[in-house]
Amino acid sequence: MSVIEEIKQKIDIVDLVSEHVSLHKAGHNFKAICPFHSEKDPSFFVFPDRQSWKCFGSCSTGGDIFAFVMKKESMEFGDALRLLAERAGVTLLSSPRIEAEREEFSRLRQINLAASQFYHNFLINTREGKPIIQYLTGRGVNQACIESFQLGFSPGEWESLLTYLKERGFTEKEIIMSGLAIQRDTGGAYDRFRSRLMFPIRDSRGNTVGFGGRATDDSMPKYMNSPQTPIFDKSGILYGLDRAAPAIRKAGQAILVEGYMDAIMAHQYGSENVVATMGTSLSEKHVLSLKKLTGTIVLALDADAAGEAAVLRDSEVAKGAFGETLAPVATWRGVIQENVLAGEIKVAILPPGKDPDELIRQSTEDWKRVINEARPLVDHIFDVVCKRHDISSATGKSRIVEELKEPINQIKDPVKKLHYIQKLAGLVRVEVNSLAAIINKKEAAFMKTTRFGKAGTSRELIKPLPRLKISKPIEEFCLAMVIQLPGSADLGEEIKAEYFENSENRVIFENWLDEPDTEKLKKRLDVSLHDHFEYLSKIKFPFTDEPGKQKALKDCILRLRENYFKDLKYREGILLSNLNNKDDATKVLADGIALNVKLKELFTEKKATTRHQRGTIENGKG
Ligand code: UTP
Ligand code: MN
Repeated sequence: MSVIEEIKQKIDIVDLVSEHVSLHKAGHNFKAICPFHSEKDPSFFVFPDRQSWKCFGSCSTGGDIFAFVMKKESMEFGDALRLLAERAGVTLLSSPRIEAEREEFSRLRQINLAASQFYHNFLINTREGKPIIQYLTGRGVNQACIESFQLGFSPGEWESLLTYLKERGFTEKEIIMSGLAIQRDTGGAYDRFRSRLMFPIRDSRGNTVGFGGRATDDSMPKYMNSPQTPIFDKSGILYGLDRAAPAIRKAGQAILVEGYMDAIMAHQYGSENVVATMGTSLSEKHVLSLKKLTGTIVLALDADAAGEAAVLRDSEVAKGAFGETLAPVATWRGVIQENVLAGEIKVAILPPGKDPDELIRQSTEDWKRVINEARPLVDHIFDVVCKRHDISSATGKSRIVEELKEPINQIKDPVKKLHYIQKLAGLVRVEVNSLAAIINKKEAAFMKTTRFGKAGTSRELIKPLPRLKISKPIEEFCLAMVIQLPGSADLGEEIKAEYFENSENRVIFENWLDEPDTEKLKKRLDVSLHDHFEYLSKIKFPFTDEPGKQKALKDCILRLRENYFKDLKYREGILLSNLNNKDDATKVLADGIALNVKLKELFTEKKATTRHQRGTIENGKG
């Protein structure tokens, strides 16, 4: 039995779900108000005998225990697996290579932690640190903040930290790898940070992974940061996130600022849901890590930045990553493309010449007001673009429409989209329908790129689906063929991710859609899936020739699809017996008939291929 299966055996879905949702008995099953969308009547069901759950309401999500945790905690499969393994008391084994890597990471974290203690101590306990403390105090940073952010100061000598770390048992090689020391051409090494005010940077779990070092005089650069290391990825890390996470959840929004000092002051003055990027523009990684905590991100931008084109572009990246995208979803209506709005990005514009640090110190009320007045990104983009052109001239109008076309097209909520089309039509004074036609033109191409496009965007949003407790050989067989057979790349249209009811198969399939190359595919999978992936790659097939392979694959897909629709039908029955509203029942019945038609089609298709196969065999004999 694989660890994945072992965990599924040991954790009962009803136990797991009922810790987060208050379940009510509904015959053999359980129902509840869906925890993933707001609703009045319960449409969230848990099926104990199938060990699965499903929401029949507008969010139409479902799946196994992993899918539930992935959704509830906004986790990747691997993290959900580790969490549930711990709960089930199942030990996860890993390969020697992974162990070595883990050891290296752990050493790097230890080095960074030791360095932060060294710098902090040097700041608060030495004569050299005194003026820096004064500088911080002068800027309004209090003692508690210096402690909680572990601010520090690096000595002016060339090898202070290096010597200290070596004494603590770290090798020169490790220290260089951590970025805290730099290799000399002539051999040996020297401290990277000298005479700088040190900001330790922690990852979301609170591990110190790097540093920002501010010059305390006019020397350039003003800030120096740790270089990229195996544990420090500047483009993905958010300063202060470890401390901000609970506040972000609580406030239901994350506020993004640009500087270390801004984040620190915000925290000191009680806005603890603030994090800072580190001199880089907002990336998809940033957004994805915030998305785990909240649906709303507020960008606190200074007046200049807010008007810049670059900011808009970056924000668009963010919006894509934040999940305004299409996802294939299975509902009791069948498989549909549903608009999924997973989050919202807003823009708060600071008063001219002020950064958050100054504004907060001047007046926390003003700061809070600015944040409260944040407007949706699309509205902000409207303002900027309209200001840039002459809205009364024909050329101006045409430019404005050209520039706003794409942002509007990215809105997948049809009502919201229409709202903005109307808004734009009003602004440039053209008729709504004509404008809609212009704007929708590019839609087809756009949909194609978003659906299985950029990693980490739509892939994440594709809804997990129900599974049966019994492992499903058909899923594995089919997935194995897809992975192993060259030229199956265009199957993305024929097989839907939701046909796979087991999260492990589903996640691998979703990744395969983005990366069909076996080697590369394995690399991008979480380590917890490697064993399962190996197993799939080694499944042997009975067929020998090319037509045989294609035929087998086709049969397999048909069966997979059939299973899927049968399962939908089964669930529809349960739903039906739980509806108290006649209209709903009629709707479900009507859709049930549509499902029957689908199943019948599949049956006919299957019969046709079987007949064809028989024919081939007979011909072969003859
Ligand atoms: P700021 O210059 O606004 O710095 O740069 P700050 O944090 O507000 O610092 P004070 O108030 O002048 O003391 C914003 C962020 O850009 C990055 C840093 O992350 C900084 O916090 N930055 C800036 C660099 O990485 N390198 C630089 O040379 C300057
Ligand atoms: Mn500043």
